[in-house]
Amino acid sequence: MEMQERDAWSSNFGLVLAATGSAIGLGNLWKFPFITWENDGGAFVIVYLACILAVGLPIMMAELLIGRRSQKGVVGAFRDMAGPAWKWVGLWGVLCGFILLSYYTVIAGWSLFYFWKSFGWTFGGFPADLAAGDLFGEQVGNASLQLMLSLAFSVATIGVVYFGVQKGIERMARILLPVLFVILVLLLVSALGMSGSGEALKFIFEPRFAELEWSGVLEALGHSFFTLSLGMGTMITYGSYISRKQSIVKSAGAIVAFDTLIALVATIIMFSVIFSVAGLNEEVGRSTVGMLFISLPELFYTEMPFGVVLGPLFYVLVALAVLTSTISLLEVVTSYLIDEREMKRQKAVMASGGAIFVFTIFAALSFGSTPVLSTIVAFGKTGWFSIADHFVSNWMLPTGGLAVAIAAGWFMTRKATMEELMDGNQPAWFRYGAWRFFIRYVAPAAVLAIILAVLLGQDFS
Ligand code: TRP
Repeated sequence: MEMQERDAWSSNFGLVLAATGSAIGLGNLWKFPFITWENDGGAFVIVYLACILAVGLPIMMAELLIGRRSQKGVVGAFRDMAGPAWKWVGLWGVLCGFILLSYYTVIAGWSLFYFWKSFGWTFGGFPADLAAGDLFGEQVGNASLQLMLSLAFSVATIGVVYFGVQKGIERMARILLPVLFVILVLLLVSALGMSGSGEALKFIFEPRFAELEWSGVLEALGHSFFTLSLGMGTMITYGSYISRKQSIVKSAGAIVAFDTLIALVATIIMFSVIFSVAGLNEEVGRSTVGMLFISLPELFYTEMPFGVVLGPLFYVLVALAVLTSTISLLEVVTSYLIDEREMKRQKAVMASGGAIFVFTIFAALSFGSTPVLSTIVAFGKTGWFSIADHFVSNWMLPTGGLAVAIAAGWFMTRKATMEELMDGNQPAWFRYGAWRFFIRYVAPAAVLAIILAVLLGQDFS
């Protein structure tokens, strides 16, 4: 009773690009630089790298292997691999994708707005009397503009997923990611030429453990889930399109390495700019969106070498990075409808994309009624937007990650996971026993620590 053949990546590289595209997003360009800043760099970065290696990498492998072995989206995958009751865990993941996408799209829309604006500044000059915070507040409070921007982004996302895994998602990733890398390298070269770059590198890479607090350790751990798109079945879904000829271990290693590299490069770029401009430190410390959408636009035109060209390119970069993430989020929900509800892809994409957009409307309008400045400083501690972000980062991703570790480490047999990881293509450095130890003990313990911290009042959003 074989149904139509399952869509698949054309090669290992196709998967790595698509999954890297999912992982690279606002987490790398905005959240990581910001939490590195808040936690005083240095030691925090080392702890973050340790979390990526000890928790992120094993769980990445676990998600990919659960996907490949089951050949199903997240709901069917959990059910088939771990038992019937686990379908609820899968549905938790689908719900998480639904919620995350609903507000991620709004920030995506901002990048379109700033691209359009900066394009204008490049040719018309940066208006001397423009207060950057006011511009941000105005666009955020402009309901119809917000709706148009997020609608445009939703349509683009739906358009890609519509064409399927190989012809839509993979093809898009093949075009977008190289562009993204080139833009990032250009920005890096220019940023390193700025006067503050030395100080920036020191801030990021010189460990000062005395400054690190426990809350910072937990923040690093929580962020390692977010940045790698783990804990909600995205990588399970992408894993279900991997063929037997590819190595899960190698792919996971490459995805994690790329994501980490990009986060570090983005941080070097931003801090080089911050340290080059006197007085910017305090400004940045106050606001999470501040750097990306308030401080940077002007600095491109006043401080950064070649900023007139790099400014618009930077916002293209943000938009592309976000698009490859929104695609993967929509694919989680879509594949659920295809695999479990037996819908045709085209219909499933329309249904899930349309339903999610309803919630995007709420997120887009979350900012409307609040006064401009308080919105920026508090970064929307109001409305659907912040409720959603809070819930996803603090609860859904850590619990989802815990479920993945338990399913792969305790519910699947040793034989099953071994067959997937030691698939004949695995790299020489890989030790199955080490992976099993991390997935059974280290990762669950770490995630339990996050959950405990959240219960005790820590906020990871
Ligand atoms: N990894 C994305 C980022 O760094 C955010 C994210 C978290 C995500 N979970 C996801 C993206 C699932 C796509 C799918 O911005």
